[in-house]
Amino acid sequence: MIDYLDDWRRDRYCGTISAQDIGSEVVLMGWALRRRDHGGLIFIDLRDREGIAQVVFDPERNPEAHRKAEGIRNEYVLAIRGKVAPRPEGTVNQSLKTGEVEVLVTECKVLNRAKALPFTLDEHVEVAENIRLKHRYLDLRRPVLQKNLLLRSEVCRISRDYLASSGFVEIETPYLTKSTPEGARDFLVPSRISQGSFYALPQSPQLFKQILMVSGFDRYYQIVRCFRDEDLRADRQPEFTQIDCELSFVDREEVITIMEGLMARIFQETKGVRVQLPMPRMTYGEAIRRFGVDNPDVRFGLELVELSDLVAGSGFKVFADVVAGGGIVKGINAKGCASLSRKEIDELTEFVKVYGAKGLAYVKMTPDGWQSPIAKFFTAAEISAIDAAFSAEEGDLLLFVADKPKVVNDSLGRLRNRLARMLDLVDDDVYSFVWITDFPLLEWDGDEKRWVAVHHPFTAPMDEDLEHLEPDPGRCRAKAYDLVLNGNEVGGGSIRIHQEAVQSQMFRMLGLSDEDARAKFGFLLDALEYGTPPHGGIAFGMDRLIMLLTGSESIRDVIAFPKTQKGACLMSEAPSLVDQKQLRELGLKVKAAS
Ligand code: AMO
Ligand code: AMP
Repeated sequence: MIDYLDDWRRDRYCGTISAQDIGSEVVLMGWALRRRDHGGLIFIDLRDREGIAQVVFDPERNPEAHRKAEGIRNEYVLAIRGKVAPRPEGTVNQSLKTGEVEVLVTECKVLNRAKALPFTLDEHVEVAENIRLKHRYLDLRRPVLQKNLLLRSEVCRISRDYLASSGFVEIETPYLTKSTPEGARDFLVPSRISQGSFYALPQSPQLFKQILMVSGFDRYYQIVRCFRDEDLRADRQPEFTQIDCELSFVDREEVITIMEGLMARIFQETKGVRVQLPMPRMTYGEAIRRFGVDNPDVRFGLELVELSDLVAGSGFKVFADVVAGGGIVKGINAKGCASLSRKEIDELTEFVKVYGAKGLAYVKMTPDGWQSPIAKFFTAAEISAIDAAFSAEEGDLLLFVADKPKVVNDSLGRLRNRLARMLDLVDDDVYSFVWITDFPLLEWDGDEKRWVAVHHPFTAPMDEDLEHLEPDPGRCRAKAYDLVLNGNEVGGGSIRIHQEAVQSQMFRMLGLSDEDARAKFGFLLDALEYGTPPHGGIAFGMDRLIMLLTGSESIRDVIAFPKTQKGACLMSEAPSLVDQKQLRELGLKVKAAS
């Protein structure tokens, strides 16, 4: 028999009762996490989003409620009325917020039953992610995920408070829109009314927020969903959320100052962590030189060492040839790793190959000097110069990659993170922010044989570099900035182009004909001609931020209903086939389902 709520009202959350409530009568509602029968007494851990309360059924004092309790299984939904009492001596559970008390049940309602669960909700048992995602409604009952989503809600609230009190206006922008290039593929939505035409789901509200500046809203924000059809990884979802901001009449410094304040508030209020302001900064050039990547984790050293000049004239042909051909040679000193086995070094070699490296030369620093397959190619003078460059000491392992700069930096940059984990150099309790500035405006895309925007095509060139734009596009720096936290890009933005002529020039640089530019961005070019204020902004990847705040391994753990690596929702089974009728209405025909 299932009971109705009748006139019962819950008066507090299970997770909130404490010694202060001893003697008071409470009505709690929640799920039976587990039932234990002890010499007649039945104990149930009743769970709601705030925590767990132990409720006790005594056959002597309350035979009717006790009889009901005998039929209760895991995850039944219960309402109980009872009195808060101290737990008997020796049964206090210090690891539980409510561990000093229990509730002696006087009345119980079974509000609903539950089938046996497909997996246990016990935090200590690993359950395959695909099973968890298929039954996400159950998975989300687990305290870790509840905590993650509650914290996420807090971050939204804090952001809204902070931004509203800094004069930002929350404005919604459309989801059915026209393609804005942020570098990924668009998700398309066919139009029924204009058959053959498609909306694109926004990769970000970039153009709309700029247009809001043209309209005079001055400071805009939105906590907004963005859609990008790109290859998924642990820190990427096809739909994700940005805290998106745009401001008028500002330069980079003002944007950075306001946004540092937002981050500091979020970290202070959710973690009690005091973020040191102003945050450190590093130019893109320095980041690549020292760390190989534009999202460096600055919590540890293991910096990359430039060796090109030292090895250019050496007898090791691989290195000398690479440098002669315009490439570079860099290395990392893996401190104290000389004892790594051949197999372990082979694994590191395989790792760098993923990033395009052709090999990973190594030197073990032994009491007898260099032990290495490449030692024989170097003179004593070269060896001591290389040792000095690495500050190498006995017991170290020197690792080298020679290749095009991109391959060297990518592979060693990633290897650096891996070595840091291996050597246990990463302090997970530290939050290290760094702004990366002075990005290049454009980079050459060898496949497409054209220049592409590093951030996006609306980012302004640095005033002093504008003269390079036409003759030497690669030399022109952008007024762009990224915020990196512990090696993760958590935000990115820029000061925008606010003059039509510069925007048109930019489109031409990107290989768009004037006609194409008008077809794609005519509305922006028009708007820019009607009194556009200087403006700029930023967007934070909220999911990534929450992932870092909660110490989660994947952004899937901070999103209520995430997609798998293959872009599927295992619970609702999206994406799915649609009816012929729907396709007909849209004027679409599917060639072949693969
Ligand atoms: P950008 O493309 O750098 O900038 O995106 C801003 C931030 O969004 C996060 N992010 C993602 N998070 C999860 N899954 C994804 N697939 C994903 N892609 C990006 C990152 C990133 O730093 N319109 C500009 C912002 C601006 O110029 O104001 C933009 O979208 O944390
Ligand atoms: P090989 O002369 O090909 O036997 O290579 C000797 C060592 O140099 C091996 O440890 C290779 O992994 C390494 N090696 C080969 N090519 C490169 C490269 N481009 N960069 C760094 N190390 C390399």
